[in-house]
Amino acid sequence: MITIRPEREEDYAAIGEVNRVAFGRENEARLVGNLRKSVNFIPELSLVAVKDGSVVGHILFSPIAIQVSNGNLPALALAPLAVRPEYQNQGFGSALVRHGLRQCRDLGHKVIVVVGHPEYYPRFGFSSARAKGLEVPFPAPDEAFMALELVSGALDGIAGLVIYPAAFDGV
Ligand SMILES: CC(C)(COP(=O)(O)OP(=O)(O)OC[C@H]1O[C@@H](n2cnc3c(N)ncnc32)[C@H](O)[C@@H]1OP(=O)(O)O)[C@@H](O)C(=O)NCCC(=O)NCCS
Repeated sequence: MITIRPEREEDYAAIGEVNRVAFGRENEARLVGNLRKSVNFIPELSLVAVKDGSVVGHILFSPIAIQVSNGNLPALALAPLAVRPEYQNQGFGSALVRHGLRQCRDLGHKVIVVVGHPEYYPRFGFSSARAKGLEVPFPAPDEAFMALELVSGALDGIAGLVIYPAAFDGV
């Protein structure tokens, strides 16, 4: 039985630990902590997967902007997504992504960007972001840089650079 729910203050330490053990480094745990402090943080889009009362997975969607010729288009970055190693390949990651995307749509968001495993995210509807006209300000292989339109046509006619908050620098 998997429960997916928004994070609570008492989950902060466990969320840091899930990210630390999933990625084997501190960067993503620090990223989550820094994004949580930012004014743009959306607590409803920081979700945990709970199994037998323990946090075993976490996903965060946070605001970014796509710089287009006549201004900025709001979007969300999916990052990070983490499942404790001993719970991987049991559907927790998929449950977090699917629940998260529904929540993003319900809150009125239209576009999600991810830089991640090319074999993983297409199953949720993500596809090449460059093919949709997007670019990132750091090197990212075509197959790893993906986007999803929650509203069909949201990226029609859009060409632009994804601007990440400073918290992402060096992650
Ligand atoms: C990637 C991750 C979040 C997936 O979560 P999960 O709960 O293990 O995934 P699920 O059980 O929902 O899905 C399992 C599928 O994901 C695939 N998968 C798992 N880890 C993967 C990885 N690192 N790269 C590509 N695919 C991966 C499995 O091969 C499996 O594929 P299949 O359904 O075709 O057999 C998890 O493995 C993890 O935390 N990895 C370390 C951190 C990380 O890489 N995060 C994502 C950054 S983009």
